[in-house]
Amino acid sequence: MDSADAVNEIERAPDLQSLEALRVRLLGKQGEITAKLKSLGSMDAEMRATEAPKIHALREGVTNAIAERKAALEAAELKRKLATERIDLSLPAADSVSGTIHPVSQVLDELAEIFADLGFSVAEGPEIETQWYNFTALNMPENHPARAMQDTFYLEPRPGEDERRVLRTHTSPVQTRSMEAHGAPVRLIAPGRVYRSDSDATHTPMFHQIEGLVIDKAITLGHLKWTLETFLKAFFERDDIVLRMRPSYFPFTEPSAEVDVGWSVEKGRRVVGGQQGWMEVLGSGMVHPRVIANAGLDPDEWQGFAFGTGVDRLAMLKYGMDDLRAFFDGDIRWLKHYGFRALDVPTLSGGVGA
Ligand code: PHE
Repeated sequence: MDSADAVNEIERAPDLQSLEALRVRLLGKQGEITAKLKSLGSMDAEMRATEAPKIHALREGVTNAIAERKAALEAAELKRKLATERIDLSLPAADSVSGTIHPVSQVLDELAEIFADLGFSVAEGPEIETQWYNFTALNMPENHPARAMQDTFYLEPRPGEDERRVLRTHTSPVQTRSMEAHGAPVRLIAPGRVYRSDSDATHTPMFHQIEGLVIDKAITLGHLKWTLETFLKAFFERDDIVLRMRPSYFPFTEPSAEVDVGWSVEKGRRVVGGQQGWMEVLGSGMVHPRVIANAGLDPDEWQGFAFGTGVDRLAMLKYGMDDLRAFFDGDIRWLKHYGFRALDVPTLSGGVGA
């Protein structure tokens, strides 16, 4: 048989199975081309010199043709599968696989409900943020040691730009963005994902924060404390919530306070409420005049407070999970156990907790 015939047959192989049969017939141990190769051994030198290149060329041509046909058949098969095995993701799930609301979504809904009642609106900002919004506008100039307080993920600069963007390390950049966009007065919360290079039982590289910002003409620390107390009482659904404000430092607030909430032990479990011990739940303070100015407002006219806290941490405290990493594992058993029913929408009258 000659090379053209073989290649012709290969190109017409209708499927992978017949192509494989053809390969075995030609190149297998007992194959036709293999036999030709073997016959070289019994030829005299002169004949071998003329035959060997022909046989090797035949083998190479056939090998290449088979590889090409195989790729073509596989591509056609994939195309056929993609066309026939399309899944309509918009179809409702079967009853047996009903999903649950993730505790983070549940807590975010609860927080939005509580703050909506206090007249706060919800604001959002980008997760890929400029260093200006994430740091500089918040009174953390370059080389400010506070930039090192947060383990920041930096991105490669975009073509034509030399500044590296960051994955926002907190929701505080939304303060500046919102004041810039809407001016003052301001009364908002800004929930969302934030990122820090950190991972253990209570830290994941991505987690959720919620920012609060109130800017007006005569806002004081007293308003801050009342707001936080009201919010935490509503959130934990207890009246015996006790707060302790400790002087602290954030570059973007002055004065700054870390807020602890009292806990006590009930039925052997540590719960929020009472004051047997303290745990930190919030960062807060009066917005630094420089932050207000950086957002284009006059700090002699406007002042206010800001606070920030971890949403996942609030969920852990309220619903008793102890490992943050499980929040983002996507393990269906965890989700079934800790998840919430889809129709348990938090309301202030019905109770924000499910
Ligand atoms: N952004 C701070 C943090 O992530 C929290 C904070 C927000 C503190 C607002 C003060 C005011 O740690």
